[in-house]
Amino acid sequence: MTRVLITGITGFAGSHLADYLLEKKDLKVYGIKRWRSRTENIEHFIDKIEFYECDLRDASSVRDVVEEVKPDMIFHLAAQSFVPTSWNAPMESLETNIMGELNLFEAVRRTKIDPLIQIAASSEEYGAVREGEVPIRETTPLRPLSPYAVSKVGQDMLAYQYFKSYGMRIVRTRGFNHTGPRRPSVFVCSDFAKQIVDIEKGIKKPVIEVGNLEAIRDFTDVRDMVRGYWLALSKGTPGEVYNICSGVGRTIEEILSMLISLAGVKVDVKVDERRLRPSDVLCLIGDSTKFKTATGWQPKIAFEKTLQDLLDFWRKAQKAYK
Ligand code: GDD
Repeated sequence: MTRVLITGITGFAGSHLADYLLEKKDLKVYGIKRWRSRTENIEHFIDKIEFYECDLRDASSVRDVVEEVKPDMIFHLAAQSFVPTSWNAPMESLETNIMGELNLFEAVRRTKIDPLIQIAASSEEYGAVREGEVPIRETTPLRPLSPYAVSKVGQDMLAYQYFKSYGMRIVRTRGFNHTGPRRPSVFVCSDFAKQIVDIEKGIKKPVIEVGNLEAIRDFTDVRDMVRGYWLALSKGTPGEVYNICSGVGRTIEEILSMLISLAGVKVDVKVDERRLRPSDVLCLIGDSTKFKTATGWQPKIAFEKTLQDLLDFWRKAQKAYK
């Protein structure tokens, strides 16, 4: 029986990864959650998983969990993941993301176990990408543009260093944008989908508030992304870093138009200055050839379906999500 530990299991990607792993045989899933974590994403599998209360910023609590579970595989998905929050509370983002990972690595090292560990790094690390560097490969320089991006560079480099210094079997994935059902409504696709559904329900005026519509992003369905995380550990090489992305770039304006036309609503669009960032990453389009070659991964879910599922998610969402 393979013992798999997921940090961030109550979150968006973490809960989808748990759904995916629960379909597999000979595998036992363990999850770390904080005492005050929201539970709406995990209610449907709460009896199938063993949960541990732990805060990754507290080294002793991380060590206790790692010593008890003795995982064969760890998926490290817990993070402060919203870019704008990192400008408002930079220290919190750096601490949660970098120190949290450090505590995890130290717990593993001191427990003297040798699990495979996946680190969810991010395309945000590439930041100020230059002309001629798109599609972005793993060798493209990292030029982070937000405290969040710096925290992800920190996580990425710490993982590299622990692999080099101690031979820990760490695989880094640089995930590009991903979305789908359960995505919190602060993130762009989910934000727009929820506004559209509120308009459909008549609880909002037919005006959609937006930020920078010119940014270009490369979206993958979260269900394809978490399958990628699994393949990264099953078939990837420790010490390596892999981009996971669709390779298709769309402006945020195009994505808004797709959502509006899928829903068939008539709306006005208004820029809300508060949604603009001190520095936004202009264009992230990735090249995942290295990952595809290593693992055979291919995205399976068309972006139109992802957006449709997101609209349907908000149409059916229980109060707990709002
Ligand atoms: N959130 C939000 N809300 N973003 C908006 C809006 C809006 O109303 N209008 C335009 N945008 C633009 C943002 O300025 C950004 O360029 C783009 O939409 C995507 O924003 P987010 O969905 O907030 O995601 P992100 O690209 O900043 O970061 C996400 O992707 C990273 C991978 O590249 C997050 O999931 C990160 O955790 C992840 O690492």
